[in-house]
Amino acid sequence: MTSGLKASQPWKDLQTHFESIRDQHLRELFAQDPDRGATLAAEAVGIYLDYSKNRISKETMRLLFALAESCSLQERIEAMFRGEKINNTEQRAVLHTALRAPRTASVMVDGSDIIPQVHEVLDKMSAFCDRVRGGQWTGHSDRPIRNIVNIGIGGSDLGPVMAYEALRHFSQRNLVFRFVSNVDATDFAEAVADLDPAETLFIVASKTFTTIETMTNANTARDWLLSHFGGDTAAVAKHFVALSTNADKVAAFGIDTENMFEFWDWVGGRYSMESAIGLSTMLAIGPTAFHEMLAGFHEMDEHFRSAPLDQNLPIIMGLLAVWYANFFQVETTAVLPYEQYLKRFPAYLQQLTMESNGKYVTTEGQPVDYQTGMIYWGEPGTNGQHSFYQLIHLGTRLVVCDFIAFAKSLNPIGNHQDVLIANVLAQSEALAFGKTDDEVRSEGTPPWLVPHRVFPGNRPSNTILAEALSPGVLGKLIALYEHSVYVQSVIWNIDAFDQWGVELGKVLAMRIVPELESHASDDLYHDSSTNSLIRRYRKLRR
Ligand code: F6P
Repeated sequence: MTSGLKASQPWKDLQTHFESIRDQHLRELFAQDPDRGATLAAEAVGIYLDYSKNRISKETMRLLFALAESCSLQERIEAMFRGEKINNTEQRAVLHTALRAPRTASVMVDGSDIIPQVHEVLDKMSAFCDRVRGGQWTGHSDRPIRNIVNIGIGGSDLGPVMAYEALRHFSQRNLVFRFVSNVDATDFAEAVADLDPAETLFIVASKTFTTIETMTNANTARDWLLSHFGGDTAAVAKHFVALSTNADKVAAFGIDTENMFEFWDWVGGRYSMESAIGLSTMLAIGPTAFHEMLAGFHEMDEHFRSAPLDQNLPIIMGLLAVWYANFFQVETTAVLPYEQYLKRFPAYLQQLTMESNGKYVTTEGQPVDYQTGMIYWGEPGTNGQHSFYQLIHLGTRLVVCDFIAFAKSLNPIGNHQDVLIANVLAQSEALAFGKTDDEVRSEGTPPWLVPHRVFPGNRPSNTILAEALSPGVLGKLIALYEHSVYVQSVIWNIDAFDQWGVELGKVLAMRIVPELESHASDDLYHDSSTNSLIRRYRKLRR
């Protein structure tokens, strides 16, 4: 049995329409509708989305909106905001939107309003950050904190590190920030190599407080600190804080729950960077700028909740992703920020998009008969232009690109910004329109070289443009992608908020650890490949 999506009339209408548009070139589409550069665009909350360089017509959008309506998209959006348990397999509400709701809002979960607790934690974070940033929070030997090391992985790392890099311009520069995620000891060793334990604060960030990578690194951090303080465990209280939903585990680790900043099970790990998990961000940029970021998220939330389909940025982006994934059978989306501060944005988006929509069964547990989440990847421009853009321009695969650019640089030096923006515009133009055989020949290119220099074009992209990167704009941008991911999941009828795909590897790793450490027994019960690799490892390690 399959999900029925492909049998629905709106889907069939899209399939028929696809047959008529699949071979049309963007050159033709622009010739047929010369204004599409202005009309296939939308603007909201200071974010401009030009989606005209996609392989679509106005009819495509009309049919995609009809598909969205047939999937009750707007009801599903309301269900999320209202706190319904839309994370079906974990029976949880999905309320990252409540984390950025104003103090005056009210959102009920299981009969109680969660907004007061959200703001209580934000206030506690603000007070703590003011003390650390002002030098009043001192370490065990009374020295002010200079170094902050966030220990976490997945959503407890990627959001914080991305936000720190993105908002570095707004950060307090006398504080050093490091992020340790990998269980590979090198990550920890290199992060603390030049740090003085007496001036170092560890933030142990883990929703569950059971994740093996984080707990291993946290234990190593505690040993590192205590070896400096002669084993005096009283030092832990001044040098460790925890961000978690699990107070019992935090206490069991030895961190006073007074030094714990709480969040809740209705916050998914990859949707948590504006919860207590954002403590490192708040330490870097301060409570005021952190609240500006939350306000940016909230503006996009309100837009998503209220704007009509054809003006709704996350809905447009989400539906375009479905169009490419399911009709053109596109495998990947490249996210290409022309803003150096967003260098970790593609990595952050990988978890957001792929952990959310990498699902092969519907919410009812039936296998899907269509592709779901695309592969997301990318690097900042212009660097990528000198590496992988060759394949996007002239390779055999269709890659969808999201270009992200800002009118104003945070470091306005010389003409760098104009050169940067000229490049992003040139890339989307070249991808869409290419360079014809005639154009190449007319330049006097020898015939044998012509095919190598022809750009087929017809390669789609979105361009997202805002005035300048700021805490608020970062919030809007992240919320844009978060909601686009949800739109896709609604169409595909999958649960975007669980992540069972992580579990099997975790369980098997726990079984293999003692086998690697064992010297005595050679009784291994894996497949012959895994058994051989374990034996080889043991031998090499000896
Ligand atoms: O990778 C699986 C996952 O559960 C993510 O969803 C989460 O962000 C990450 O592990 C870290 O989990 P925790 O915050 O509980 O340590």
